[in-house]
Amino acid sequence: MGTVRVALIADLHCTKSSQGAFQSLFSAITEAADVLLIAGDLTDYGLPEEAAVLVRELSAVRMPVVAVLGNHDVESSRQAEVAQVLKDAGVNVLDGDACEVLGIGIAGAKGFGGGFGKRALAPWGEKVLKEFAREAVEEALKLEKALTRLRTQHLVALMHYAPVQETVDGEPPEIYPFLGSSRLEDPINRFPVSLVVHGHAHQGRIEGKTSKGVPVYNVSMPLLTRTFPDRLPFRVFELAVSA
Ligand SMILES: [Fe+2]
Ligand SMILES: [Fe+2]
Repeated sequence: MGTVRVALIADLHCTKSSQGAFQSLFSAITEAADVLLIAGDLTDYGLPEEAAVLVRELSAVRMPVVAVLGNHDVESSRQAEVAQVLKDAGVNVLDGDACEVLGIGIAGAKGFGGGFGKRALAPWGEKVLKEFAREAVEEALKLEKALTRLRTQHLVALMHYAPVQETVDGEPPEIYPFLGSSRLEDPINRFPVSLVVHGHAHQGRIEGKTSKGVPVYNVSMPLLTRTFPDRLPFRVFELAVSA
């Protein structure tokens, strides 16, 4: 039996002038963990140049890195290039697929909005609203497909948008539908997921649970900075794995 230390961060929003900005964060992560998961918004405007700055910063991280993109990473419609820059630097970018690192299975998808519970958006009425609701369904299916592929003892669901309202609470209620979707919670509840990681809700809460009790962590950097002002903005969870 061994222990894998999983570091979690999100919402780095790396810009073209962020050189050096992440050095202390990444060297602390290198000391504290065995694998790093990044839950989206790696860049600020979704530019390959921003991703290039980030991968130079990430060269300090001497461990496997797994990421999903966020809404900021698709802002310039250049997400394929952004993902390629990251992949060329060895980052495993998941978009409806899965990977296994040190015995931990990671299923990743960006996710989407639509809101939570009884007030979640339904695909009804105008075409554009149907498309909006359907996008969350598509992302939930991607996550489900990725989870299906894994046979590891531990499953981690990595996404940018929130699957539950609890880790969004604290944000203005008017923007809840743009912060996550209950549809993402369905596949998580159907698999033996150990933990769920997301970002995006910079003003949300750090911890919540799905309706089946799976822990959900919002690791948005601005939120962690506010919550733990005397620490660097990342979290580490230890998962026990059989040798
Ligand atoms: Fe963000
Ligand atoms: Fe975001």
